[in-house]
Amino acid sequence: MVLLEITLPDPEATRSFGERLAAILPPGAAICLFGEMGAGKTTLVQGIARGLGIREPVASPTFTLVHEYQSTPPLYHIDLYRLEEAELDDLGLDEYLENEGIACIEWPDKMAVLPSPRLEIHLTGEDGRQARLEAVGEAFEGVRKGFMKSAGSGD
Ligand SMILES: Nc1ncnc2c1ncn2[C@@H]1O[C@H](COP(=O)(O)OP(=O)(O)OP(=O)(O)O)[C@@H](O)[C@H]1O
Ligand SMILES: [Mg+2]
Repeated sequence: MVLLEITLPDPEATRSFGERLAAILPPGAAICLFGEMGAGKTTLVQGIARGLGIREPVASPTFTLVHEYQSTPPLYHIDLYRLEEAELDDLGLDEYLENEGIACIEWPDKMAVLPSPRLEIHLTGEDGRQARLEAVGEAFEGVRKGFMKSAGSGD
């Protein structure tokens, strides 16, 4: 189910969008970030991190595939770009997906099975970006309302 579509004119718009999302995400949320290389997935996670009060810089995990931040709830930034198929089972992703933490997954299509329920964010566009939010499972149906109500929504 498509929840909303929003235009993000610049990187800061992507971050504030993530920040607003962080405020309304249900605990334990799995967020799958779709979009080509450079689409703004990490930028969006930076915004979510900011919304959760994380002050450390957020960059894509390179040597490990998961970065864990001790916010409340914790944030798991997972980037599967470098994942080799054989590694998938050893990664123990379920551990991150089955607790109260917010799991943000870049390149989720590398997973054998996508988490469910999940919030999908599809990022597209060259000059600025468009974000399309889709809910898979009932857990995220409140996100649209919450987002509209959140301060400064401007729409
Ligand atoms: N809304 C936007 N408008 C224009 N540029 C943006 C926007 N959001 C992010 N960017 C810029 O796009 C570039 C790539 O962003 P980012 O690293 O977040 O992409 P990514 O999808 O994580 O890439 P990768 O696939 O390599 O992980 C950065 O320079 C970032 O500042
Ligand atoms: Mg990235």
